[in-house]
Amino acid sequence: MADYDAIILGAGAAGLMCAGVAGQRGRKVLLVDHADQVGKKILISGGGRCNFTNTGTTHERFLSANPHFARSALDRYTAADFVALVDAYGIAWHEKTLGQLFCDGSARQIVAMLLEECAKGPVTIATGRAVTDVAHDGTAFRVAIDGVAATAPRLVIATGGPSIPKMGATGFAYDLARRFGLKVVEPHPALVPLTLGGEDVLFRELSGVAADVVARCGPKGGGAAFREAALFTHRGLSGPAILQVSSYWRHGEAIGIDFVPGRDSGWLAAEKRGSPRATLRRTLARALPDRLAETLADRLGHPGELANLAERKLAEAEARLRDWRFVPNGTEGFAKAEVTAGGIATAGLSQKTMAAKAVFGLYAIGEAVDVTGWLGGYNFQWAWASGWAAAQDL
Ligand code: FDA
Repeated sequence: MADYDAIILGAGAAGLMCAGVAGQRGRKVLLVDHADQVGKKILISGGGRCNFTNTGTTHERFLSANPHFARSALDRYTAADFVALVDAYGIAWHEKTLGQLFCDGSARQIVAMLLEECAKGPVTIATGRAVTDVAHDGTAFRVAIDGVAATAPRLVIATGGPSIPKMGATGFAYDLARRFGLKVVEPHPALVPLTLGGEDVLFRELSGVAADVVARCGPKGGGAAFREAALFTHRGLSGPAILQVSSYWRHGEAIGIDFVPGRDSGWLAAEKRGSPRATLRRTLARALPDRLAETLADRLGHPGELANLAERKLAEAEARLRDWRFVPNGTEGFAKAEVTAGGIATAGLSQKTMAAKAVFGLYAIGEAVDVTGWLGGYNFQWAWASGWAAAQDL
């Protein structure tokens, strides 16, 4: 290998973007990945269609110990900038829902586009190569790749987080960052299904049932709230609403589910007036899938007709339906987590350039950093924006 202006470790979304932009700024870049192909997570993302950005991107839709950190990069490289790039390559796309943009065709088009962007500059891509050592002599980084040394005054950590280890994801970024004195915010699985135990185990019998809900997590049911689908699984809860709150959830906490969002307050009392002979179960089944209505009605324990239920009991039942508490006993872990929350602490990085404040020439971008987006294209937008920001400084 040889001397470069910059070595980027990790050829995922952030690394590819950073390499392409730096290359087009005339930088001689080495982009290294231990996987046999680049952008593997892009290829499987969005069910193979890659939800590549979200038109609603704002730093408020990201979790981080410093909620303002992502703002600078996200404001300077926006969803519209990425869409312009996609359009320049003639890649057809559509908005699915909630500002989520997907390829009409295949995620492969996004990877091909990023590779073409890299090919426009002096970017060397080395895949299937293990990084065996990284050293710094004060001015240059020396990276041993399968035992062969490459040097550069700039080193970018873009190796992502440990979500989905079977795809080659590792905690390498954290180990490397710690070696250079950077702090790491405790990583945990995010956008991940939650598991149910104890009394709630009965809900696992609803495996396959989905419902439109509002899921909440945080102090006293406040904090984050998402209106999307929830899905019961053979291990617990999944679906977009649950994945969203999972990023905020901590062990021991409850999540609250509103099973009747959009229904006016006093809905059950109104149902009683309109259909006094109906049972609670039948009434719930008008708003929810049958099996879910049955389970909830059983739990609420009012088998008779609505006519025989006092207004107070109806109000209590409705209050429970609007804030049904589950205390998950865990998550499905990094094996099933779409992203990793936590990561390289933003306190040690420049929000403008992603450069380490204490180690000249060192940068960290993408999922490796303690910035985690909501579900829906936000995480790729962070990868593009942080990769772009670092590339301006290489
Ligand atoms: P990324 O993980 O993409 O890249 C890191 C690279 O580093 C990998 O290529 C890896 O092989 C390499 N690497 C790791 N350790 C290394 C080592 N020791 N040496 C050398 N190389 C190493 N987001 C979104 O916005 N929209 C979506 O539709 C989806 N869909 C989705 C589906 C699934 C199944 C998953 C798992 C994730 C998503 N995501 C998503 C999240 C998104 O994929 C993720 O946030 C970005 O890929 C992060 O980009 P990075 O470049 O930071 O890491």
